[in-house]
Amino acid sequence: MNEPVRPAERLRAALAELLDGLPPSQAASAVERLIANYRGATPTDAPILRDRADVAAYAAYRMPATFEAVRSALAAFAAAVPGWAPAGHADVGGGTGAATWAVSATWAGSRPVTVLDWAEPALALGREIAAAHPALRDVHWRRARIGAGLTLDAVDLVTVSYVLNELSAADRTALVDAAATAAQAVVIVEAGTPDGYARVIEARDRLIGAGFRIAAPCPHSAGCPIVPGTDWCHFAARVSRSSLHRQVKGGSLPYEDEKFSYVAATRAPAGPAPARIVRRPQIRKGQVLLDLCETGERLHRTTVTKRHGDLYKAARDAEWGDPWPPAAPDPMG
Ligand SMILES: C[S@@+](CC[C@H](N)C(=O)[O-])C[C@H]1O[C@@H](n2cnc3c(N)ncnc32)[C@H](O)[C@@H]1O
Repeated sequence: MNEPVRPAERLRAALAELLDGLPPSQAASAVERLIANYRGATPTDAPILRDRADVAAYAAYRMPATFEAVRSALAAFAAAVPGWAPAGHADVGGGTGAATWAVSATWAGSRPVTVLDWAEPALALGREIAAAHPALRDVHWRRARIGAGLTLDAVDLVTVSYVLNELSAADRTALVDAAATAAQAVVIVEAGTPDGYARVIEARDRLIGAGFRIAAPCPHSAGCPIVPGTDWCHFAARVSRSSLHRQVKGGSLPYEDEKFSYVAATRAPAGPAPARIVRRPQIRKGQVLLDLCETGERLHRTTVTKRHGDLYKAARDAEWGDPWPPAAPDPMG
């Protein structure tokens, strides 16, 4: 029997097809224009993604990374709510639909999905790419402006990925409040920068104020132990680099690590990790140093040595972003 094609591979193939026939230098210059635009003042009054060339450049260049970041956040969320799967999904500021792909890579089957964005060319291209994935063929691509007037239909899951950065403070508040009113679960992903983290914490506080509990990455729903300005909570997702990436950024590594900050919150019961590894583990001779965010609002470095037996083996395999200690294997397989 043939293996089913996984969403990540389908997405990569669909994006490669998008660039087929486009001279590489043209794609690279569209990406460079886009990067320059994103460096300009945000929030903007009008969509940055203005036409198909912009959107194709965005999709080919950024979508593999935003997809992997959201998929990684959703995996942590799913581990905290075993047995739960969204019966419906709305992706706000969804652009070309990276989060819809990530949701379908996390939970099997299909569900009603709505992608909302103010950039029509992004929605059109998202629809075109989604045609490659049977679970995403019926997605509803809807034009909407995030702002005071935003209302969302009741839905199990709302995702907001790499959007808060483009909004004014008032629009960020309106968006998080609309998501909290409509959804059972809200997953927000931002760039893994000090600013991205600050926006995630602002949203986290608002979601807790609206009655949500944090399912991931935090082991608790109390205050974040990071002293503002001293550090920022972020993680990394490995992304295979396309030839377009190599052309724009140079270098020859076949992958890069997308840094992201996130919060996943829910009104349903959740079992957050007992602690989470918040830096890349440091492997030394006979020991592993793990930086953990723990319950009791504290950051703590623990040293796991050979004397810890199986736990030491687990520590050697542990990755930045994993729960700690690792969950016991499920006896039912
Ligand atoms: C960086 S892209 C992220 C797209 C997608 N969520 C992802 O993760 O790849 C930001 C998206 O937010 C949309 N956006 C920004 N401001 C908006 C607003 N005020 N109303 C609706 N969409 C907005 C943009 O059009 C764009 O598609």
